[in-house]
Amino acid sequence: MSDPADLNRRITLNTLRECKRRDEKFTCLTAYDASFASILDSNGVDVLLIGDSLGMVIQGHDSTLPVTVDDMVYHCQAVSRGSQRALLMADMPFMGDASPTRALESAARLLKEGGAHIVKLEGGAVMAETIALLSSRGIPVCAHLGLLPQSINKLGTYRVQGRDDEEAQRILDDARLLEQAGADALLLECVPSGLAAQVTRSAKVPVIGIGAGGACDGQVLVVYDMLGITPGKRPRFSRDFLAQAGSVPAAIAAYVQAVRNGEFPGPEHSFE
Ligand code: KIV
Repeated sequence: MSDPADLNRRITLNTLRECKRRDEKFTCLTAYDASFASILDSNGVDVLLIGDSLGMVIQGHDSTLPVTVDDMVYHCQAVSRGSQRALLMADMPFMGDASPTRALESAARLLKEGGAHIVKLEGGAVMAETIALLSSRGIPVCAHLGLLPQSINKLGTYRVQGRDDEEAQRILDDARLLEQAGADALLLECVPSGLAAQVTRSAKVPVIGIGAGGACDGQVLVVYDMLGITPGKRPRFSRDFLAQAGSVPAAIAAYVQAVRNGEFPGPEHSFE
């Protein structure tokens, strides 16, 4: 098994499971190109998420919806060339998983052509059949719950999910169901810290949080947010690590250390 502190060996899902078992936090940041992948990798980031946030931060769209499977494959290839150590997680773009069969084809491309190790899918119970199919074909899946940016047209606004009892129960039930369906990891976006802690305690698989408080097994941020270069207002759950660190490698190292020692995210980056 790869030790997260060992910068020479590839991180695998087993490494993340072991981190959860030992109650050691792991780190994740988004990456979209080879240069960033290399610098994140060599500064100890455990998981690189080739996020469909690239539609907004790289392509300049106002949502993630226009991103295609071809776009994702292209960026996965670039990240894969720059990375030697991190586990590479690729986002399934909007409607790349419109049906279980379509999801299987899209996910196969992300792994075969893109070099990703695991795919992340947005959605709750409705994704159970798809996750079971991918899992049965040897494709690891991270199930993304809470705020689902691909559903922005239905949601109307990027807001915290799971604040009322009904929504909170749905997230808990979905997490359980998708783990049973074969999900190898869960990602919770913008949910109250208490709810995220409950999901993390009951899940056997590693749980990654963004805007979900400090109890999750791992943390993820959009790399441009944590370097303070995203145009407009920085999300409340992020921190500008570059401002104090002074260089990109130092900012990334500071993020890794802050997550590992439990200093980030603090209550000011979390929701009740
Ligand atoms: O696409 C992305 O960057 C993501 C993170 C916000 C988790 O899915």
